[in-house]
Formats: sequence, C-alpha cells, structure tokens
Amino acid sequence: MGANVATVVCPLGPRVRSFVGRKDSTTPAVDGLLPDVHADADSLIQLFKDKTIHEHGLTALIGAHTTSQQLFVDPSRARDPQDSTPGVWDVLFYNQTVSDNVPQRVFKLPSDVALAAHPNIAPEWKKFITDPEDWNEDYAKEYVRLSLLGVDNINQLTECTKVLPPAIKTFNSPDSAIIKAWLKGRYDVLGKYLENGDLLTGIFALLGLSLN
Ligand code: HEM
Repeated sequence: MGANVATVVCPLGPRVRSFVGRKDSTTPAVDGLLPDVHADADSLIQLFKDKTIHEHGLTALIGAHTTSQQLFVDPSRARDPQDSTPGVWDVLFYNQTVSDNVPQRVFKLPSDVALAAHPNIAPEWKKFITDPEDWNEDYAKEYVRLSLLGVDNINQLTECTKVLPPAIKTFNSPDSAIIKAWLKGRYDVLGKYLENGDLLTGIFALLGLSLN
C-alpha cells in the first residue's frame, strides 16, 4: 500500500490497484535473491519468467527506475539518478538508457542497458519512450501481479484502491534550473534532498548556494 501511495503521489505516477491484508512475516528474506545489476539480459528475463512475469511485463516494471538514485552499484556516485528527473514518473528513463548523450550525473545501470538492447525487450522499450500513457497502463497492470507473487491468502485481501490520492497528471518542475546544474556534476549535497523529495529552491537558498 505504501509503495502504491508513493507511486501515485509522484508527479505523473499511475494509480495501481491496491490490496491489503498480506500476512506479515517475522522471517527475514534470504540474502542474494534480488536481481543482479551485472547479470546478462537473458538470465534476468528468465528470473522474472520463472515468476510468471514475461518480457513485456519486465520492460514495463523496470521503468520504476525513472525514480531511483543508485547508492551501492558505485558508492562514489551515491544518489546519482537513472534519469534526469528522478522526482517525476516520466518516460525519460527509457530514452536516456539508450541515449549516448546524457547529463554527467545520469547513471545507467548495466542491467538496464543490457535489457534495453535485448531483441525481445527493445521494441517495447522504444515504444514506451514515446507513449507514457501506454507505459503507465502496462506498469499498473504488471505491478498488481508483482505485488501478489507468493501471497498465500489472496482471497482474504481487501481492495483499498479508493483511498489512494488522485493521480497528478501534469507537472512543471519549479526547481529545474538547479536540478540541471546538479546533473552537470555541481552541488553534490543536493542529491540527498532530491531523494527526499524536497523542493531544491528553498534548500539552495538555505545552504547559501548560487547558480553563478
Ligand atoms: C532486472 C531487474 C532489476 C535490477 C537488476 C534492478 C537493479 C536495481 C539497482 C542496482 C538499484 C539501485 C540500488 C542502489 O544501489 O541503491 C535499483 C533501485 C531501484 N529499483 Fe530496481 N532493479 C530491477 C527491477 C526493478 C523492478 C521490477 C522494480 C519495481 C517495479 C524496481 C524498482 C526499483 C526502485 C524503486 C529503486 C530505488 C530504490 C531506493 O531508492 O531505495 N527495480 N534497482
């Protein structure tokens, strides 16, 4: 539910059907089960296929990296985003992953680059670059499936989609000039504020920074 609220309050993010009532577990998940950022595309595709998520679904879900700012793949570049607009749920991630011309701070995950080039993924990847609505629809459908994987008590869940806030359908970034400068490699400290969702104009003034 928290993930689905976070997705819809992110500007341009979709409403995803939301079910509550999954049983909590006191057993920690086993280490090493997350997909490996250095794995090749075929093995990543297979990993998701084994869980009933096929190429089309994986291509849609991976678009969540429109909001991520990596910390551990390269700690020396902690909080560098996977596209220029980590605060916006847009399709720029699909575009920039396959582009040679991206701002200095955009950090392409090797797994995303490998997947984007795979023949079973590339056509859909390219389609999402120009069709944000199609992406959001496919993402929302596939995320329901992802969120219910391994849930034993599926018939006891309660649908709570109606309590989600409305989607934010348009967005003009009020601090785009500062973000642009940050993407060029300036003002390292701003990464953590951006990750928190803070408006950078206020922070910028508070830190005594200037764009000159
Ligand atoms: C091929 C499969 C995937 C791989 C290899 C992968 C890899 C990664 C890596 C390396 C990071 C950055 C971690 C860090 O250094 O902080 C990340 C972040 C993230 N990924 Fe993925 N990912 C995959 C699929 C997905 C899917 C299917 C979703 C959601 C539907 C997703 C959502 C996210 C989010 C939201 C973050 C940011 C997390 C945070 O800031 O705490 N990823 N992913």
